[in-house]
Amino acid sequence: MDPMPSTTNLPLQCPVCSNRLDLLAADTGQGRLACPSGHSFDAARQGYYNLLVGKGTAFEADSSAMVQARSDFLGNGHYAPLADAVAAAVVPFLPEAGAAVLDSGTGTGHYLRSLLDAAAAQGRTVAALGLDISKFALRRAARINPEAVNLVCDIWQPLPLADSSVDAVTVIFAPRNAAEFARVLRPSGRLVVVTPRKGHLASLAAVTGMLGIGEDKEARLAEAMSGHFSAETTIDVDIPLALTRREAADLAFMGPAGHHLDRDALLVRLDGLPEPVAAGAKFQLMVFRPGKHAAG
Ligand SMILES: C[S@@+](CC[C@H](N)C(=O)[O-])C[C@H]1O[C@@H](n2cnc3c(N)ncnc32)[C@H](O)[C@@H]1O
Ligand SMILES: [Zn+2]
Repeated sequence: MDPMPSTTNLPLQCPVCSNRLDLLAADTGQGRLACPSGHSFDAARQGYYNLLVGKGTAFEADSSAMVQARSDFLGNGHYAPLADAVAAAVVPFLPEAGAAVLDSGTGTGHYLRSLLDAAAAQGRTVAALGLDISKFALRRAARINPEAVNLVCDIWQPLPLADSSVDAVTVIFAPRNAAEFARVLRPSGRLVVVTPRKGHLASLAAVTGMLGIGEDKEARLAEAMSGHFSAETTIDVDIPLALTRREAADLAFMGPAGHHLDRDALLVRLDGLPEPVAAGAKFQLMVFRPGKHAAG
């Protein structure tokens, strides 16, 4: 049976009254998050909890077809070097006991899974929280990370975590709320942000009409974080891809372009291409430490 997530090392806060939320096991085997003031949130059948209060930021949710494409593509291991790089950036900052991480915009939970496996391989047990505004994504995240607490939340609302409660925040191609990340990170913790670099999947973008990646991302990201964090290290992760047409279609469809691309038309465009379809993934991984320090 899947392990129940634990909140022992993860001080969750009630989104209504900010009291501590505890995970209570129910007779049904499904958990319930509850605070002492009587606010309570039942687990969805798939194991995640919906903590959204009010409407949340208007956003265009990834469709279930986009989530499926992301899950299929990542499940094939194409971005494993990136997952390894994220784990390598985070694990050194985890204490031997009582470690906690937040994966913000966790999506299908793929990168959090690798991180937890890498930590376990080094003998570290980590309490994990996956946040996302998409229920479709969290259904999968809850399945592949059953030991994590997976919460439907809006990153632009106060995060349901106590101050100084996690050792690492990972944000992989997802929105960033610097003030809230700084509040929930321990002073010794790190924020790890992954973004695409200029030229990411350019050859595929040319064929499919995917969005291009603008320049100067690194400078803009450091500036956006600068009120709360200072950039510590930046590494580039380049992954050469050799894909089937179907995999290329998943890749195009799983990103923001999936919101405005017609999948059938996309497959028709890719139909003419010989396999393997070559593309270059270009990512930037930045590690930030909390506080404003002299650049280093
Ligand atoms: C491109 S996906 C990346 C998912 C995952 N980190 C990965 O790399 O596979 C961006 C994620 O951010 C989530 N997201 C977008 N706006 C959000 C918000 N306001 N609050 C929380 N999550 C949000 C989306 O639902 C989506 O799962
Ligand atoms: Zn409450």
